[in-house]
Amino acid sequence: MFERMLIGRIENRVTVGLVSFVLIMVFLGWAAINEGGRMQAFQVMEEARSIEQGAMSFAANCTSCHGLDGRGLAGKGPALNNPQFFGHDFFPEITRQISTLNTEKTLITTERNDAATTDARKAEIDARITEIDSEIATLNADREAQIPDLIAKGYDPARFNRLTNLGWVGTRDSFVLTTLIHGRPVSVNYWPQPMAAWSQTAGGPLRMDQLEDITAYIINWDKGDEWTLDDLYAVQQFALEPVDGAPLEEQIRILQESGGVLPEKVGTNVQEIVANLAEFTGDPVRGDALYHGGQTSQFGNTLACSGCHIQATNGTGPMTDGTLTRASTERLNESQFAGYTAEQYLIESIVNPAAYIVPGYSNVMLATFGDQLSYQDLADLLAYLETTG
Ligand code: HEC
Ligand code: HEC
Repeated sequence: MFERMLIGRIENRVTVGLVSFVLIMVFLGWAAINEGGRMQAFQVMEEARSIEQGAMSFAANCTSCHGLDGRGLAGKGPALNNPQFFGHDFFPEITRQISTLNTEKTLITTERNDAATTDARKAEIDARITEIDSEIATLNADREAQIPDLIAKGYDPARFNRLTNLGWVGTRDSFVLTTLIHGRPVSVNYWPQPMAAWSQTAGGPLRMDQLEDITAYIINWDKGDEWTLDDLYAVQQFALEPVDGAPLEEQIRILQESGGVLPEKVGTNVQEIVANLAEFTGDPVRGDALYHGGQTSQFGNTLACSGCHIQATNGTGPMTDGTLTRASTERLNESQFAGYTAEQYLIESIVNPAAYIVPGYSNVMLATFGDQLSYQDLADLLAYLETTG
């Protein structure tokens, strides 16, 4: 009997304990949920405010090229309020079929390249590859036939994701913000007016918080799965892909490798350049390629110094051979170079060629290299010039 009562009491206590535990958890849970709700409401408000600010900055700075509604302006700037910019595929089934065919093609091509594959099997594979290619061409043609007007405006349904087309692997936010900060200097090669750098850190007019607001505004255009073909038809100008995409790819690669930070332009202040250059090690091989136009500067400019500086004869400019020797044994004797090192002379010759005209030549060397070269570019060029004897 006594034992029964004891057990009953213990059971009671357990029950009371359990009930209060559950009540406490319910209360805590409710508080937590509510706290989350308040946080969320706050974040939504913050975000809305940021988008609103961004919309105003966009209207003030961007519409002259990207259009009032971000749908682009023909010949001026590409649409950002654009399914392609957000990577929407309107023909996912065709994409899937083409991708399956391509996978098969890769597999049988590997088999074909295998030394053990018999000639009979190779012939079979070749026939299948021809078939696959024609099936892909048909699928592509079917897709294009559905949207002829868009094709005429430069849209390619096979390349429905702008960021993938560019090889950008980061987020869309980081793509927009990075483009805003640094601009797209290489786009001068394929647009009448290039996309400029907007951040104050890169010499532009806008603060970082303004750039973040504009980014929020642009990203806010994303409709996810809700994009319609009408949105695509509303685009006034699609993004361009330069015929030679190498400089753009190079710039995107540099941006990615450097965590979104484009290198600085050297400008024209020789003292400042000498000081900053100390951190860079020149690569004479790349310098050689830059000098001879085989590679572009990090901003995508073809320098082609050798167009005027021929290797072993004087032409429009002094010959390339002996540039370093002439600098240290002849030029530095001029009174205006008192206190200069040969390096300083070479730097000045490149970024501010008019400061001194080599006797017998005219002032025709471009004065814009300070704008086209990064420190690495200049270090590489100098390293190359040092090999010229
Ligand atoms: C003088 C014209 C001009 C102005 C003004 C301008 N842009 Fe651009 N913008 C361009 C061009 C041209 C491109 C294409 C660059 C390319 O294809 O590499 C571009 C590209 C971009 C891109 C990348 C798009 C892509 O698909 O690669 C973004 C994002 C962008 N601009 C945002 C802005 C914002 C935001 C502003 C205002 C702060 C702005 N632009 C002002 C001309 C302009
Ligand atoms: C359009 C023709 C032209 C191009 C392109 C050109 N230069 Fe020159 N450069 C000249 C001329 C002309 C001179 C001599 C007149 C002067 O001093 O400005 C010169 C002078 C120089 C000198 C001084 C040579 C000496 O003997 O003292 C250097 C160094 C030099 N250039 C480097 C370069 C580099 C590097 C590039 C490419 C980034 C380049 N130049 C592109 C025409 C050119």
